[in-house]
Amino acid sequence: MIKLDERLAAAASFVRLDRRICDVGTDHALLPCYLCEQGAMDVIASDVNENPLEAARANIEKYGFADRIRLIRSDGLAEIPPCDDVIIAGMGGELIARIIGGCTFVTPDTRFILQPMTRAEHLRRFLYSAGFEIAEEKGAFSAGKAYTVILAAYTGEKRAITDDFAYFGKCGDPRYINKVNGQLGKLGRSDPSLLKLIRKEQT
Ligand SMILES: C[S@@+](CC[C@H](N)C(=O)[O-])C[C@H]1O[C@@H](n2cnc3c(N)ncnc32)[C@H](O)[C@@H]1O
Repeated sequence: MIKLDERLAAAASFVRLDRRICDVGTDHALLPCYLCEQGAMDVIASDVNENPLEAARANIEKYGFADRIRLIRSDGLAEIPPCDDVIIAGMGGELIARIIGGCTFVTPDTRFILQPMTRAEHLRRFLYSAGFEIAEEKGAFSAGKAYTVILAAYTGEKRAITDDFAYFGKCGDPRYINKVNGQLGKLGRSDPSLLKLIRKEQT
């Protein structure tokens, strides 16, 4: 049984197992292997770098899912055929936004499952300005840090969002709210208007 950390488990919980799935920046491919364990049949594990692809290949063979997981070397989605559920986890929010911006196969049924390590506010602003909306967010705590996992879908309606929504999104997890409060405290030294966004400390 593959055991994922809380961050990847939260991402996995948003994936529709009966769809065409792609994990961009898969590294070790633990998430694709886990999804196959849960019943996924059509999964792409992709990465731009050769070393992660080697690690991915080893795990895919170890867990016996070579018939269900295709390995593709790709910068973002450039070489990826149309998929329904696209996971992009463990990268910065700006890189995730750039990768989604290069996607050529978006439909209203396409789901993006996104776990930014940094600059989540940039990613949320990008999503809404590009016609996506955030359906749901889940907090996760891994290796001593709080993260959010975002489930986004395309609506075609481009919108601006408030600063409050850009920073906190739809994540109600107290651990994530406290983390964002800390970021706002630091950013507030150069932009004091951000200090007013800080929420009451969560317990
Ligand atoms: C920190 S690891 C995250 C691995 C895994 N997704 C996770 O969340 O645990 C980031 C991975 O993204 C890959 N990566 C970085 N830029 C990429 C790009 N433009 N396209 C595809 N993969 C990329 C790196 O090679 C690396 O394997």
